[in-house]
Amino acid sequence: MNERQEMHRIYGARRLRRLLTFGALFLTSCVQLPLAPVAPLRALGAQHQLLIGASVDEAVFQRDAHYREVLAREFSILTPENALKFERVHPAPDRYDFRRPDALMDFAASHHMAVHGHTLVWDGQLPQWLTQGHFSRTQLTAILRDHIHTVVGHYRGRIPLWDVVSEAIDDDGKLRDSFWLRSIGPDYIALAFNWAYEADPHARLLYNDYGIAGDNRKADAVFRLLRDLRGQHVPVDGVGLQMHLSPNDAPTVRQVRRNMMRFESLGLEVDITEMDVRVRLPANGTELAQQARVYREMLDACLAAPNCKSFALWGFTDKYSWIPDNFPGWGNALIFGPDFQPKPAYHALVDRLRRR
Ligand code: XIL
Repeated sequence: MNERQEMHRIYGARRLRRLLTFGALFLTSCVQLPLAPVAPLRALGAQHQLLIGASVDEAVFQRDAHYREVLAREFSILTPENALKFERVHPAPDRYDFRRPDALMDFAASHHMAVHGHTLVWDGQLPQWLTQGHFSRTQLTAILRDHIHTVVGHYRGRIPLWDVVSEAIDDDGKLRDSFWLRSIGPDYIALAFNWAYEADPHARLLYNDYGIAGDNRKADAVFRLLRDLRGQHVPVDGVGLQMHLSPNDAPTVRQVRRNMMRFESLGLEVDITEMDVRVRLPANGTELAQQARVYREMLDACLAAPNCKSFALWGFTDKYSWIPDNFPGWGNALIFGPDFQPKPAYHALVDRLRRR
């Protein structure tokens, strides 16, 4: 082989290798795109200093590896969906069970995710030993104080954000007729925030409710409640807007902005804590596009508000969601399909986060 032939051989081989490498890269990115997007939500959210979250069903978390993989890839904060609720974490008068939430804490730590504690004082998922126990007001006050001190204390310095009181106002704007109101009286709200503060003075403490992002009596009543609590120096730091929506009853961006701004005027942060957008089953393309619009608009409102610190969904895949069980005939409410494929709503969030 002369020198010229030798040169051809080397360069030809190099060109072929380069071509093969490019081809392989191109093919891998095509194949991987729908499964592993180039920049997941959590990375895009970080560019806006915004945490992107999802609630986590503990039983599913234990058994479904694909679920864990998407959770860690896409989200920077997780909320235990049930594991920290009273009946789970405090199943008997003198017994606390931290095994399940601790497993979620370990997972979060190893994937650099924060944890949002949900929820200390709520009318739902209370154990029978508590509701059927015929305790006096003094006893129930001591029980709730011990509950908050023990649960928040167990995670002191490790859970930066707590739902302290959930759903204390009803649709008419009155204090909800709950177990806690009946047994302790209206003071239970301020007491709960004070006890949570004693247990972890560095955690941010939220009041959390649904239906308070639009213009309505309930939103106004929550505003007044928080204004009064702040006026009394009760340590409440922010408001969780749950955002369980459907395309036809979603608040407008203008309404959400107005609520976020008036909470800011009280010195409060806001967090979107439980967003899902249910549609009637079976859903068609138009409904999924409307759903995507609602997700994008709520994210838009949050990004425009300097006090909006996190944007979290209630679940993330339609494979597991509380909606079908609780709203018969409805579902398909999340941003990944049952096969973990991104839906139009996912792409809408990505598109919005890519913009400044
Ligand atoms: C729901 C859970 O998703 C279900 O698994 C459970 O059976 C009932 O509670 N608002 C809240 C959440 O604050 O705690 C609720 O979670 C959904 C509505």
